[in-house]
Amino acid sequence: MPPPPSRRSILAGAASLGLAPAARAAGPAGFGPLGRPSWASDSLQAAASAKGLMYGCEVPFHRFDGTVAYRQAVARECGILVCGTEMKMEEVLPAPGRSEFSRGDAILRFARANGQRMRGHTLVWHAALPPWVAPLLGRASPVQAEDFMRRWIETVAGHYRGQIVAWDVVNEILGNETDPDRGGGLRDSPWLASIGPGYVDLAFRILHETDPAAAGTWNEDAVEQGVPWMEAKRTKVLRRLEAMRARGVPIRRFGLQSHLTSTIPIDQGQLRRFLREIGQMGLGIAITELDIDDRAFPSDVATRDRKVADFARRYLDVALDEPALLDVVTWDIYDPDTWLNDHPYRKRPDGLAQRALPLDAQYRRKPLWHAMKAAFQAAPDHTAARERLRRG
Ligand code: XIL
Repeated sequence: MPPPPSRRSILAGAASLGLAPAARAAGPAGFGPLGRPSWASDSLQAAASAKGLMYGCEVPFHRFDGTVAYRQAVARECGILVCGTEMKMEEVLPAPGRSEFSRGDAILRFARANGQRMRGHTLVWHAALPPWVAPLLGRASPVQAEDFMRRWIETVAGHYRGQIVAWDVVNEILGNETDPDRGGGLRDSPWLASIGPGYVDLAFRILHETDPAAAGTWNEDAVEQGVPWMEAKRTKVLRRLEAMRARGVPIRRFGLQSHLTSTIPIDQGQLRRFLREIGQMGLGIAITELDIDDRAFPSDVATRDRKVADFARRYLDVALDEPALLDVVTWDIYDPDTWLNDHPYRKRPDGLAQRALPLDAQYRRKPLWHAMKAAFQAAPDHTAARERLRRG
């Protein structure tokens, strides 16, 4: 066991993250001009943008970097991209004093060349912390921990300043079904433990100071489906959003991760009311990580694909009816790479791989792709709401 970090090393760790203020003020360079749109006229993005919406996906660097057909699919279908791990602290700050942006930069350059926008994911999360950070936060005073958070946000959001349409400022901050409640529903996290519940507001304020053009987003999981604990969580979200607005916190979007699971129904009435209340607060809404865990559906591929498509359509029809809904982002686009296959509790009883995403292993458009396209085509026009919320 290495010795616990001393106060001096905490300060050194925090200080080594900070770039000189002048360097930060200079801003990033070298991501290239926004190119001509790469998406095809029959793509998901084309159908979405005809209604003032955007469609895009999460891009894992290993596949992006290694497979031409994958890059072509992402260019053809998407108007907005997000990095799966490349902008998380774990990847950006692998060791004290070292920052690593090359993979995130490569995805951003690709997006720019293709006329695509980018979301930023994610600034303050209990997970994906590099191993050296949790002990550091564990020994930091609240002031030191705040300083560390500020330097981190300034480092990553400063590097990408002006390039990111929306940053997930906080991710998964509320407890889920089995998490103990740490006050106001906030889940256990090194940020909560070191800074206290004010860490959430503070993170939004720091992003706003660092990159005012990026829409500060609260991204949350497990708020979409029809089960009592999720309905209780929705109520907590609404009360917290109201309080944040009343305190003048610069939050502009709420993100529903939308890792939907076939084991829980969609309650369209509950979902509609939830989204309407968020919209009425003047916030934009994004679907940020859509995929469908098909565990409860049969093995037969044709049946399964149809059920996945119908399930997504039930969700999207309600979501896209809400004027404040702006973007639909799937968590990757290509079935073989879905993160769902990496999680033991998401395993299908028949041992088959999940079919959670719009394209299959041969990059063919699946029934889910067609359901998404039909949902975009059936959606009301969001252009006016997007324009209003762009300035919000
Ligand atoms: C996942 C990535 O897809 C994986 O590659 C990584 O190993 C773990 O994180 N909610 C989130 C995302 O907000 O950041 C997670 O991404 C999926 C769940």
